[in-house]
Amino acid sequence: MATILDGKALAKKIKSELKEEVEFLKKKVGRAPGLAVVLIGDDPASEIYVRNKEKTCEEIGINSFGVKKPTDITQDELEKIIDDLNCREDIDGILVQLPLPKHFDAQRIINLILPEKDVDGFHPVNMGKAVLGLFDEGLMPCTPYGVIKIFDAYGVELEGKNAVMVGHSNIVGKPLANMMLNLDATVSICHVYTKDLKSFVKEADILCVATGVPRLIKEDMIKEGAVVVDIGISRVNSKIVGDVDFDKVKGKVSAITPVPGGVGPMTIAMLMYNTVKAFKQREGIF
Ligand code: GUN
Repeated sequence: MATILDGKALAKKIKSELKEEVEFLKKKVGRAPGLAVVLIGDDPASEIYVRNKEKTCEEIGINSFGVKKPTDITQDELEKIIDDLNCREDIDGILVQLPLPKHFDAQRIINLILPEKDVDGFHPVNMGKAVLGLFDEGLMPCTPYGVIKIFDAYGVELEGKNAVMVGHSNIVGKPLANMMLNLDATVSICHVYTKDLKSFVKEADILCVATGVPRLIKEDMIKEGAVVVDIGISRVNSKIVGDVDFDKVKGKVSAITPVPGGVGPMTIAMLMYNTVKAFKQREGIF
């Protein structure tokens, strides 16, 4: 029987520890950590994600500052908003919900966020630290770091294993592949242009999938006893499904994350973790 890697339960534990820590820090410093959540436009999925982030801040005792602007604001106007948030003493973390409407240069916006306030871990300085394995020093991208925390919690060893990352996005695939490399796995990165995906996936002791293609990974592609982490989330006929054909694959693997309730809740928990970390670093508390 496969172990179900219960990200939801682990996220709950992390959030409850953070809540206690925030109570302590508030007394020590005289203020709570502050997170600015910037949402441009009215994309319904983004609105749900942002609401969840704000709700979780409230649960933990972090002050959230919602900055909501219509789709038609300009690049210059958004850059001015970021500049102002960078300067605010009461704001420790800045998150710009992605994707931005098409007329924005998103990378330019990310590059403008002060690295010490970049709680998404998307700034090139923090990405660089993820590549170098400086997990403690920088702010690590939330979803990949959440996956690493799942490995830690369940005692999944990476050293010497064949790890396969399917998906090469800036926010998941690239940083997670590098983090697994820093844990001494032998890492292959596959993506939409990979020829013969199955031949790579078949070799994976550890398989992470972040493509957004529902049930892309089938039972016959998987190595017996593999550990499978599914980072995809799609809606198919009003059912939420991942990138892995969970029902069939679970009989063949040693451990697997469910969708929902696997990696998703860990992303928000790690965002809260990064916000508290940014607060402590800015206040000189280590
Ligand atoms: N859109 C999808 N995932 C993310 C995320 O982790 N952070 C931000 N800011 N936007 C996203």
